Amino acid sequence: MYPLKRNRRLRSSDAIRSLVQENHLSPNDFIVPLFVVEGTNIKEEISSMPDYYRMSLDNLKKEVKELYSMGLKTVLLFVKVPDNLKDNKGTEALNPKGLMQRAIVLIKETVPDMVIMTDVALDPYSSVGHDGIVDQGTIVNDATVDVLAQMALSHAQAGANFVAPSDMMDGRILAIRSLLEAENFHDTGIMSYSAKYASGFYGPFRSALDSAPGFGDKKTYQMDFHNRKEALIETEMDIEEGADIVMVKPGLAYLDIIRDLNNTIEVPIAAYQVSGEYAMLKAAAQKGWLDYDVVMYEQLISFKRAGASMIATYSAKDAVKVLG
Ligand code: PBG
Repeated sequence: MYPLKRNRRLRSSDAIRSLVQENHLSPNDFIVPLFVVEGTNIKEEISSMPDYYRMSLDNLKKEVKELYSMGLKTVLLFVKVPDNLKDNKGTEALNPKGLMQRAIVLIKETVPDMVIMTDVALDPYSSVGHDGIVDQGTIVNDATVDVLAQMALSHAQAGANFVAPSDMMDGRILAIRSLLEAENFHDTGIMSYSAKYASGFYGPFRSALDSAPGFGDKKTYQMDFHNRKEALIETEMDIEEGADIVMVKPGLAYLDIIRDLNNTIEVPIAAYQVSGEYAMLKAAAQKGWLDYDVVMYEQLISFKRAGASMIATYSAKDAVKVLG
C-alpha cells in the first residue's frame, strides 16, 4: 500500500485547512506608522507610497479614531520637520511644544487607550539628514546618545507609551532607560530598532519626511546586510540595556534574522515592513501584475511564521479589511 501518509488530506477543504492553520493575523498584531506635518486640513499623498498620507494634526485626530474603531490600537509616530527648524544637533526634537510632542498629547486626548510609540532619531530634525550629530563628516556617537535620551524623555513627558530609537548609535538603550528611570517614567517602554540594516528599502520613507542623508550614507551606524551575527549581538545588547521589544528592519529580506532571533531570545520581536516594501507591492498592483490584497496578506503572514509577535506596516488598514 502506498503511501501510508497522504499530505493532501489535511488540505482537502477550507474547514480542514483552517483547523490545521498554524499562523494567524489579527488587528492586534499591527503597529500603524503615521506621518505628521504642520498646518491644518492637510492630507497629502506620499508620491512614492500610493494611498499613504502625511497628515496635519486635525486629520491625525480623525485618523486615530478610525484606526481604533478598526481594532488598530498601536501607532508609531514620525514627524516632518520644517527646514528652518533643522540643525546639526536636532534641537527642535527637544521642544516640549514641538510637532511630535503636540501629536502625542492630541492622540492621548482623543483616544486615551491608543498605544503611542514614537520614533527617536535625529534625522527628521537634522540639517544634514543623519541620525546623529555630525562633526567633520563623522556621526558622533556619545553626544548623539545624550540628545536621544533627552528626546525620549520629552516624548515620555508628553505621554508616549513606548519610545522607539531607530538611530543605531551604541549605548542608547541604556542611556534612555537610565534617564526614564531617573525621571520616574518606569512604565514607559522601549521598542528598540535593534537589528536595523543599512537598506535601500527606506527610500520612499526618506522622501516622505525629506530626511535623506545630505552626504554619504548610513553605513557607519546601520548594519551591513551581508551579516547575520551582528544582528544577534546588537539585539542581545539592547535587551541587556533594557529594551522591552526588539525589532528587525526591513522585513521581508530579513526573515532569516527574525527566525534566528526567535530561536535565541525571549522578548517580543517586531518586524518592520518598510516603505520600499510597501511601494513595491503598490507599484506591482497598479500595473495589474500582482493582486495587492493576496500578496500583502501572504507577506504579513510570513512575518508571523518567521517568529515576529507584531508587525509595523503601512498595509495595516488594508490588512484589517482583508481579514474582514
Ligand atoms: C529614521 C527612520 C527611518 C525609518 C524609520 N525610522 C529611515 C532611515 O533610517 O533612514 C525607515 C522606515 C521605512 O522605510 O518605512 N531613523
